[in-house]
Amino acid sequence: MNKLVGLTRNFSSSANLNAIKTVTVVGGGLMGSGIAQVTAQAGQNVTIVDLQPELLDKAQKSIQANLTRVGRKLYKDDAGKVEGFVSDSLDRIKVSTKVEDGANADLIIEAIVEKLDVKQELFNKLDQLAPEHTLLATNTSSISVNAIGAGIKRKDKFGGLHFFNPVPVMRLLEVIKSDQMSEDTYQAMMSWGKSVGKTCITCKDTPGFVVNRLLGPYSAEALRLYERGDATKEDIDIGMKLGAGYPMGPFELADYTGLDTNKYALQVMYEMTKNPVFRPIPLLDKMVAEGKLGRKVGEGFYKYSK
Ligand code: CAA
Ligand code: NAD
Repeated sequence: MNKLVGLTRNFSSSANLNAIKTVTVVGGGLMGSGIAQVTAQAGQNVTIVDLQPELLDKAQKSIQANLTRVGRKLYKDDAGKVEGFVSDSLDRIKVSTKVEDGANADLIIEAIVEKLDVKQELFNKLDQLAPEHTLLATNTSSISVNAIGAGIKRKDKFGGLHFFNPVPVMRLLEVIKSDQMSEDTYQAMMSWGKSVGKTCITCKDTPGFVVNRLLGPYSAEALRLYERGDATKEDIDIGMKLGAGYPMGPFELADYTGLDTNKYALQVMYEMTKNPVFRPIPLLDKMVAEGKLGRKVGEGFYKYSK
């Protein structure tokens, strides 16, 4: 029921938009396509920029499938309304391989590869290309937001918008206050988050922000329990689902977010905090080296059929 309320709010919020009317999402992968979907669902125009046309095709197909899921939930058996909802939302989405085509938006959200130098290069370019009023945001899960924006001039118009996977379902948005973010930018990002159906919380630019700072030790301790042979991964997953009410156990979640993402987030938090709970985990390193990255490749802690 809660999920349905969230989805309905997404759709009906189209009548009540704030100052941000056009959005560009750079990076059309797992997160970027989800962010573009919820933006279009909320009645706003969005451009997705990715490097290759095939990746944009993949993003559009995945958005269409997920919109159909949402439409079926909203309109049950009314096939005409489902179709209308899907095609209206898709009509609001443009795609391009050139960042220049998306530069003229009110808000640009970056959801590209989790590498500091690549993100910095992109933001420096966006800072040059975008009109003065454009707000810039990163969806990084673990890198310092201030470091990502270190080279841009409009530091007052920059911050973090951290979404959760799967974006259309997870109702939270963390709004990360960079050191020089203005109050106007903060308020605009908070109200934009609400306009796309999310409940927004605020955090300073601190390692892992709120959610990953707490999920990191949980995930790391689960991996160590398993690595020591104290319990099977299956029992640990069952334990956290049935004993703590989590929708997925820690190994199912690691496979879902990607073991590489998991390893990188722990590494960055270890470098930034020196807290030993985030120290490297040999089992995780080994699995990443072997390419067992989780669902996206068909195998992580568990095996997945296509
Ligand atoms: N788009 C639209 N709807 C979707 C969807 C998508 N991509 N994926 C799932 N859904 C909907 C389904 O239609 C279904 O809706 P109803 O219950 O209303 O029928 C519902 O979500 C549940 O889906 P499923 O039945 O397919 O699967 P499930 O019950 O196993 O739930 C899940 C899947 C929502 C992912 C759930 O297991 C869950 O919440 N897992 C935890 C996810 C989580 O913790 N995410 C945060 C990761 S950390 C992060 O993202 C931050 C970071 O920086 C790494
Ligand atoms: P992904 O690999 O699915 O998608 C990244 C996309 O960015 C790819 O399609 C790639 O082609 C594109 N890309 C890379 N460099 C680009 C560039 N210079 N210009 C345009 N496009 C470029 O990754 P993802 O899981 O969607 O993660 C994206 C960001 O979101 C990362 O910063 C990640 O840390 C963060 N994040 C991920 C999750 C998660 O659960 N996966 C959750 C929250 C935040």
